[in-house]
Amino acid sequence: MLIRSLRLKNFRNYAEETFEFVDGLNVLAGANAQGKTNAAEAVFLLCTGYSPRATKDHQLVMRGREGAALSCRAESRYGEISIEMEICADKKNVKINGTPILRIGELLGNVNSVFFNPNELKLVKESPEDRRRFMNISLSQMSRTYLHALNRYNKILQQRNNLLKEKDRAIVLDTLPVWDAEFARYAAKIILMRNEFLKTLGPLAEEAHACLSGGKETLKIASESGYYGGEEEIAYAVKEDLKTAYEKDIRLGFTTVGPHRDDMKLLLDGEDVRIYGSQGQQRTVALSLKLAETEIFRARAGEYPVLVLDDVLSELDKVRQRRLIGRAERMQTVITCTSADKRVFGGAPFKKMTVAAGKLKKDPSSD
Ligand SMILES: Nc1ncnc2c1ncn2[C@@H]1O[C@H](COP(=O)(O)OP(=O)(O)OP(=O)(O)O)[C@@H](O)[C@H]1O
Ligand SMILES: [Mg+2]
Repeated sequence: MLIRSLRLKNFRNYAEETFEFVDGLNVLAGANAQGKTNAAEAVFLLCTGYSPRATKDHQLVMRGREGAALSCRAESRYGEISIEMEICADKKNVKINGTPILRIGELLGNVNSVFFNPNELKLVKESPEDRRRFMNISLSQMSRTYLHALNRYNKILQQRNNLLKEKDRAIVLDTLPVWDAEFARYAAKIILMRNEFLKTLGPLAEEAHACLSGGKETLKIASESGYYGGEEEIAYAVKEDLKTAYEKDIRLGFTTVGPHRDDMKLLLDGEDVRIYGSQGQQRTVALSLKLAETEIFRARAGEYPVLVLDDVLSELDKVRQRRLIGRAERMQTVITCTSADKRVFGGAPFKKMTVAAGKLKKDPSSD
């Protein structure tokens, strides 16, 4: 998948700017605080409807302006796609090929994208929620069925949790089984798809990790859901576990069983990388997961996603930088850095764009 051009209006520190991207490497260079990450964020936002760093939509709108408008011309093997997004008062309106979409989820799967910046280290270092988010965003882009199951599951979970806070114990015990069947049905769909995802992701991440680290360490990934087998089997096991946990759930006032509690285990030479990994090892593992994700997208969608690498080079030594660029060259990549070092980018042609104060400089030295 490819993004040909990106237009930003009143988005972050861009009053108005248009980027033209090439098929391979697109390097956004510039000093600190000029708008490199903002442009990288815009690419992922248009592809997925999700900002990797804004918690509220209004943060995306240039300060002092009413609203922002972003659009891109993209291409997939099914043809050309135009995506337009308007952000106003914490609301996003999106059109695909001129037709408004009703739910932001409809954006997913048109132009896939994988985003990485140093913040994504959370994926390795922090709470299970960050790893679940990784699986959710990735799987939702790949499968509408997953997205639907996840939305249904979250609604049922919320209702079940509301019920668990109800004071009348008899009502709670009477009503719980009503929710459990639906809960287990959607939980099983999610768990099954996550298990399959991790089974594919594992070897791909191991391979990417061996490539980045020069084969010094071995990465292993495992699901921690504890549920295996087919959908029926998993649904049955979840329902049984829900029953066993009634007393605990009532006491705590929330549901303690289900895929909202899942995690994935990341082992480097048999040790938990979250606990024992060095900064560099954790960084390489996080990048390997993302590179593996790009390969899964290629296998599922038949083409690579748009890879967005924000500020990753400054964190890696020259050898790892070159290895990473070698991998990134397989697909369209938008990469930000403070200076485009020829020794790192030397291998293949790339387009360099210099960003200064929310504007693109015409750069005669671009390759
Ligand atoms: N909603 C907004 N309105 C106006 N300016 C904004 C908005 N959000 C962010 N900015 C500004 O955009 C500027 C550029 O931010 P950005 O994160 O893109 O910088 P960068 O080029 O990636 O820098 P670095 O090299 O430090 O990562 C910042 O100075 C920030 O204050
Ligand atoms: Mg930045």
